[in-house]
Amino acid sequence: MNILLFGAPGSGKGTQSALLVEKLGYLHISSGDLFRTAIKNQTPLGLKAKSFMDRGELVPDDITIDLIKEVLLKKIGQKFILDGFPRTTVQADALEVLLRDLKTSLNKAIFLEVPKEHLKKRLVGRRVCKNCGATYHMDGHPPKKAGICDICQGEVVQRADDKEDVIENRLTVYETNTAPLKNYYAGKGLLKPLNGLGNQDEIFSRIVEELKS
Ligand code: AP5
Ligand code: MG
Ligand code: ZN
Repeated sequence: MNILLFGAPGSGKGTQSALLVEKLGYLHISSGDLFRTAIKNQTPLGLKAKSFMDRGELVPDDITIDLIKEVLLKKIGQKFILDGFPRTTVQADALEVLLRDLKTSLNKAIFLEVPKEHLKKRLVGRRVCKNCGATYHMDGHPPKKAGICDICQGEVVQRADDKEDVIENRLTVYETNTAPLKNYYAGKGLLKPLNGLGNQDEIFSRIVEELKS
């Protein structure tokens, strides 16, 4: 079963993907994580993506589609979760063609529903491990030792795009470009909206139930 996990910035895509990897053995493909790795390694892709990401704008479709294509071609045959891709209908159409060529498909498009006021709080308080990518929240789920990752002892920092003005833009960009994918996947009979409020384990149980049905 291949899943698309989508939703607004801060809706919990990364958090739930980590649980799906740990507990159900999924392969996690996150366009945001791939771009952040490219930025860290100062690759040509990273240099192109950085200015868009820092402003909370979308990286252009052609660059993003090529990136995902490369990853999917390498990982063919493993069940996967897509997180953060597609984000536009152009990307969604390209994905469909790509998966058809690879003789596979998406089985469910799980949409995490979270109201805007919660999204902002989640993003402002988020901290991530620079080394392993583990996600924390200053109120709900802080690292045991301030600034240090529980898992790998790496440095825990704020993401460059988790500043308030950038968050505002990311939410607007999401409404304009990505929210229409709800209709896109509803039209294909794949849309599975889930309540994204509650604690992480409750939401994970909802996803597992949805995967069984
Ligand atoms: P990306 O990295 O995908 O960011 P995003 O979509 O903005 O989503 P986030 O990662 O911010 O949120 P999330 O849903 O993963 O939430 P999380 O689990 O961390 O993209 C970044 C940028 O890259 C884009 O702006 C764009 O520039 C570029 N990009 C990426 N993909 C692209 C594409 N396809 N096309 C073009 N450009 C692209 O949780 C958030 C916080 O909430 C955490 O602190 C967490 O601990 C907390 N939390 C999680 N679950 C709960 C819960 N149940 N209750 C309370 N708190 C919770
Ligand atoms: Mg994420
Ligand atoms: Zn870590």
